[in-house]
Amino acid sequence: MHHVISAKSFTQQALYDLLPKIDQMQTRLQEGAQDRLKGKIMAALFFEPSTRTRLSFETAMLRLGGQVISTENAREFSSAIKGETLEDTIRVVSGYADVIVIRHHEIGAAARAASVSQVPILSAGDGAGEHPSQALLDLYTIYREIGRVNDLTVTLIGDLMYGRTVHSLVYLLSNFTNIRLICTAPEATQLPTDISDYAKARGVTIEWEKNLEIAAKQADVLYQTRVQKERFTSQNEYEEVKNAYLIDTKLMAIVPQKSIIMHPLPRLNEIAKDVDQDPRAAYFRQSHYGVPVRMALLEDALQR
Ligand code: NCD
Repeated sequence: MHHVISAKSFTQQALYDLLPKIDQMQTRLQEGAQDRLKGKIMAALFFEPSTRTRLSFETAMLRLGGQVISTENAREFSSAIKGETLEDTIRVVSGYADVIVIRHHEIGAAARAASVSQVPILSAGDGAGEHPSQALLDLYTIYREIGRVNDLTVTLIGDLMYGRTVHSLVYLLSNFTNIRLICTAPEATQLPTDISDYAKARGVTIEWEKNLEIAAKQADVLYQTRVQKERFTSQNEYEEVKNAYLIDTKLMAIVPQKSIIMHPLPRLNEIAKDVDQDPRAAYFRQSHYGVPVRMALLEDALQR
């Protein structure tokens, strides 16, 4: 069965196959109605808040002619509140739907779901673990906007510790050649060593640079993130790091002309609003790529 649980499971070849498929989905989106997934049902089980991920998965399914059943606040409004285990919920829902998209607050939840599901599980984020579909849309953004997925310097900024999109993106980028990652983050939210070790073992160069100006000048991609307040056990620790790095027009003056600014969104104060007008600000375009990316994932999962 075609589950999408971890970005680690994508080989370089799988990614090279997927990128043009996403291009095709973009074209199909422009052409209008599709019925490739007619008669199929996608269940969206969201135990954590979401705007983009849930709505773009649902849009993707509807654009392909499929249908959607959805619980957007499963932590409170599903039987989880009565004490039902995730495994039991999945056993039941996998008898209703042809594919399940799940977001959960616990690391490993998507893998647990997959272990009991009769239908493909697509992870939409498991706690501070991973967010593979976001990483695919991030990779697609780089491919579209920069024109290549090799020979890149990517500066990762902010919360690299709890930011699950960063983890999955590092795993995906580890498939390509001449990748240099610059980690620009406070000590308390640095990239976990198991993830940097994974990348290094696959030939990625990892550097640590606390000074954003120095890191920004060298980057093809500046990948800014929100500090994940919900993962901190101490409010004080969060306060200390929450505004550590800001991308503003002053910084943009030293960012190379061909570089792009990415952010998985939602943004709080990490990118000043007046940066939005800059053509290098790719984050809203990035959010829109979520639809064709998830169309490709749904088709892959359901047409096997
Ligand atoms: C991210 C997430 O949920 O991990 N959002 C998203 O899916 N685009 C990032 C975040 O919440 O900061």
